[in-house]
Amino acid sequence: MVPVFLAPPSIPWRPTHTPEDAGDLMPATDPRSDHPGSSGQTDLDLQLLEALRAGRGGDPADLARADSSWFARARVLRDEFGRLQMYYGFGIEEVSTKIRILRQEFEQVYDYTPIEHVRTRLKSPESLLAKALRQGTELTVPAIRAEIRDIAGIRVTCSFVSDVYWIAEMLSAQPDLTVLTTKDYIAHPKPNGYRSLHLIVQVPVFLSRHTEHIPVELQIRTIAMDFWASMEHKLRYKYRADMPDDLRAELDDAAAVAAQLDARMGRLRDEVRPAPGA
Ligand code: GTP
Ligand code: MG
Repeated sequence: MVPVFLAPPSIPWRPTHTPEDAGDLMPATDPRSDHPGSSGQTDLDLQLLEALRAGRGGDPADLARADSSWFARARVLRDEFGRLQMYYGFGIEEVSTKIRILRQEFEQVYDYTPIEHVRTRLKSPESLLAKALRQGTELTVPAIRAEIRDIAGIRVTCSFVSDVYWIAEMLSAQPDLTVLTTKDYIAHPKPNGYRSLHLIVQVPVFLSRHTEHIPVELQIRTIAMDFWASMEHKLRYKYRADMPDDLRAELDDAAAVAAQLDARMGRLRDEVRPAPGA
């Protein structure tokens, strides 16, 4: 049986308003700093080793008996994970730049911005491994790239629902961005009340010798949607599958109130400012 390694409960989303924040995108323990041939063994090496060996029916607990070829494979995979992380970090930077440019243009030209906050998240190699194991993805770079589309994430928060769609349209219209999928949980909220607009966009990243096409998960939502989603996430994490009925009911009610607030704010906004593009 393939063991499941627990990822941290959630990978923090970081604010990314300034270029200096780009440095934050790399994890505190940069896996590339321990290149093959160096003596150090990271936790990730051991997790990868266990996963590889378990996949072959080996005894994952008995690392002492692992022969050097398994270690070598784990090392190669670890380095590949590190490279992937670098590429996806670049993908985040490319799309973040597009969002920052839109925001600055709006602030300067219209004295108004449809974008309130931008946060980014890059899945750590540990969390990538955990997701691959959880969903049964083969531990190869092509399989991981094809099957895990949320390695790079950007969350954009807007004041109004109309701005959410407006941002999505402006980004989708950019010739170098390809929209791979759209999930409109605003028009069709999840059964638990979750609302947000999700796009997976693919952006080219031009490297010294080749171009990488990197998918980036974009979550665009209003402040009210974001507020509700962060509370729901905390409660779900605390109670897992056993959320008490009264809390569940409160949360359902809060989702309805958040949707009403968005609708009311939208009407008020129409009073003071014409709808986007009008
Ligand atoms: P994941 O495998 O979890 O990424 O889900 P998915 O591939 O089905 O994609 P989906 O677009 O439904 O969700 C992607 C992301 O949206 C999640 O990782 C969360 O960040 C967020 N999300 C989706 N559903 C919920 C929800 O019910 N509550 C909260 N708080 N966040 C959600
Ligand atoms: Mg996800």
